[in-house]
Amino acid sequence: MTLIDAATRIRDRAYAPYSKFKVGAAIRGAGGDIHVGVNVENVAYPEGTCAEAGAIAAMIAAGETRIAEVAVIADSPIPVSPCGGCRQKLAEFGDKDVKVTLCNTDGLRIQTTIGDLLPGSFTEDYMTRT
Ligand code: THU
Repeated sequence: MTLIDAATRIRDRAYAPYSKFKVGAAIRGAGGDIHVGVNVENVAYPEGTCAEAGAIAAMIAAGETRIAEVAVIADSPIPVSPCGGCRQKLAEFGDKDVKVTLCNTDGLRIQTTIGDLLPGSFTEDYMTRT
């Protein structure tokens, strides 16, 4: 199954009764397995979590710590782009050149990378004085 197919299929399971905006995310780990996630909202709105965060949690629970590729999909007018927090979360586990495919349900695609989504990201290097 392609990464986009996995994200598309899992999107149906999103729990988004408040925004009605269902998002599916799929991550291919360095070992080749696919890990999926959906957004999970809450009546206390800030407690909701994004699809990317769910896919990362599934990846970590499966014993994988490195991201090889990402796909995200929503029923949006233009391909959906990860929020700022999710960009930082993706950067924790994926190199700057990791491919991220932004998708919508009309078949539009935008190809980007973790590095392009989060230029100037905060890294451990800032915490170390040599
Ligand atoms: N959302 C995601 O799951 N991923 C994104 O990349 C953008 C936004 C979710 C959060 C919330 O449940 C809904 O979409 C509307 O913001």
